[in-house]
Amino acid sequence: MDICRSKKLRTLFSFDNLEEQKVFIQKKWNTLTWRIICECFIFNPHFLSAMGFVKKQTKDYQNAKIIYKRIFNVMSNQLTRENHVLTFLFFNRYIKGTLLPLYLRAESFDVLKEAISEVPIHICTNDIGKVCKLLPDASCDYISMSNVADHVSPKIFANYIQEAARILRRGGVLCWKYWSSNHTLPSEISEEFVHNLKAEKEIALSEVFFSSHVLEKT
Ligand SMILES: C[S@@+](CC[C@H](N)C(=O)[O-])C[C@H]1O[C@@H](n2cnc3c(N)ncnc32)[C@H](O)[C@@H]1O
Repeated sequence: MDICRSKKLRTLFSFDNLEEQKVFIQKKWNTLTWRIICECFIFNPHFLSAMGFVKKQTKDYQNAKIIYKRIFNVMSNQLTRENHVLTFLFFNRYIKGTLLPLYLRAESFDVLKEAISEVPIHICTNDIGKVCKLLPDASCDYISMSNVADHVSPKIFANYIQEAARILRRGGVLCWKYWSSNHTLPSEISEEFVHNLKAEKEIALSEVFFSSHVLEKT
């Protein structure tokens, strides 16, 4: 994308005014030709597998569509040059602003704490499996992993989930949603959980994630 549209890309990252950026995106970026190119090549499983980017039997090619949608959404709602992920993605460096997204900047912490005032926040930087191992049985109400362990093997993921299941209280919720994998509930503990189909459907409708599981411990 960078190679074929470098001039447009520079323009896209030059805006100081969101309304002007939106007009540019509608008229010059998301053009019919560009959409046809995306459908024929970037989102096309046959083309991607012929080029060796993905295996035909996997659903990986859908990731291109999901990622594109997310990027397009950001471009339509935020000044592109102020989005650190996009500037890093396209230029391999940060152009403007701080290096961290809003929710990770110290000045945002008070606002975040206020929004979830009843929940004590404990920041822990450790492997999720190790963290779970330190906690007693039935000591958690809710465990959520959002794009946290997509790239680990099914075996390692199953270990994480088994530990998470152990520390979860009856009636507690275990949830994971991923962009690029479809980790399933290990069969050994499948009878301990029921799917919250309504929540899973809502997440699926958002089309942001590849797969999602929302499970209640019985
Ligand atoms: C793609 S980010 C997702 C962040 C956030 N959950 C979200 O949805 O925006 C992946 C995060 O998972 C963390 N992570 C990856 N493997 C982990 C593991 N085994 N234990 C704990 N954290 C892990 C990484 O450090 C990183 O912060």
